[in-house]
Amino acid sequence: MRSLINVFDLSKEEVGALLDTADDIIANPAKYATACHGKKIATLFFEPSTRTRLSFEAAMLELGGQVLGFEAGGNSSSSKGESVADTARVVSCYADIIAMRHPLAGSAYVASKNASIPVINAGDGSHSHPTQTLADLCTIRRHKHKFDGLTVGFCGDLKYGRTVHSLIQALSRYTGIKIVLISPKELRLPEYVKNETIKANGMEYYETESMTEVIGELDVLYMTRIQHERFASEEEYLRLKDSYVLDMAKMELAKSDLIVLHPLPRVNEISTAVDKDPRACYFEQVLNAKYMRMALILKLLAERDCEAPAEEGEYRTDLVCDNKGCIVTTEQELPHLFRKGVDGKYRCLYCEHRE
Ligand code: NCD
Repeated sequence: MRSLINVFDLSKEEVGALLDTADDIIANPAKYATACHGKKIATLFFEPSTRTRLSFEAAMLELGGQVLGFEAGGNSSSSKGESVADTARVVSCYADIIAMRHPLAGSAYVASKNASIPVINAGDGSHSHPTQTLADLCTIRRHKHKFDGLTVGFCGDLKYGRTVHSLIQALSRYTGIKIVLISPKELRLPEYVKNETIKANGMEYYETESMTEVIGELDVLYMTRIQHERFASEEEYLRLKDSYVLDMAKMELAKSDLIVLHPLPRVNEISTAVDKDPRACYFEQVLNAKYMRMALILKLLAERDCEAPAEEGEYRTDLVCDNKGCIVTTEQELPHLFRKGVDGKYRCLYCEHRE
């Protein structure tokens, strides 16, 4: 059985095949209308969501399947103290596949180790969000018809924005991609993404605080919201919250074939005037997310009987993860495990924080 916890759980070829399936679903929706007849998806959302939960549910309904689940952890047994592992075991008795969102990094991984059905990570803390990445890739490919050689700018909260981490990981598999990281100093990309993904793959990149200076170079601009809920200090959030606003004056400096993406929700970072610009693709991205989730559900259900790939690597059990946003902080008897990265450093298996 296979799950999707982070983008590297899919090979580059598998991502390509999912993109092709989504294109086919868009062209021939009727062909897929009963593909999941008799199947159920459980959407377990321990954190607020509009798009992602409804998108998974719409995806399953459009495949002829059914949905069950909850939209706030407060309504589930986790509010009584149930572990993610137990919730995953219980839900495996009711559904055929799980889509789970949770505020702690590593939560979906723990669920996948305990469920007897495939688990899709619909966002684990500030860690990763692979199905948003599938939607992002779909939108880029439908407009640019390629990934190789693109200059992609990421602007906003690159520290806590999980969609940014996953998309950079996915882009690292293509050649000639240039990454431009635009953020305040306090919200720069985590070092594990920089070391393990950007540097390890020899990707060209640079960091800047100025959107105006670089917007003219970009083929894709990926805007993100400042992730209020992940800040330890309200004062720091207030200081940084309006760091970047994309408006028509800035759009005038950009290429005529730029595409602007945003995982949504937006909180002021894109002026509504930009919505009418043909380069604004963020609402189309929402639609593409549903098609990519349809393609993914089909794939994981079809491969239910496949062996999960072996987890390789060198591990240490003597280190302790002190990241408050990691699932080891709350999950009953979960061992602290650190895996050696390509840069020789050990990182927590669940949240990727350094030793
Ligand atoms: C994103 C998320 O939840 O990480 N939203 C989404 O799934 N489309 C982005 C965000 O919350 O800012």
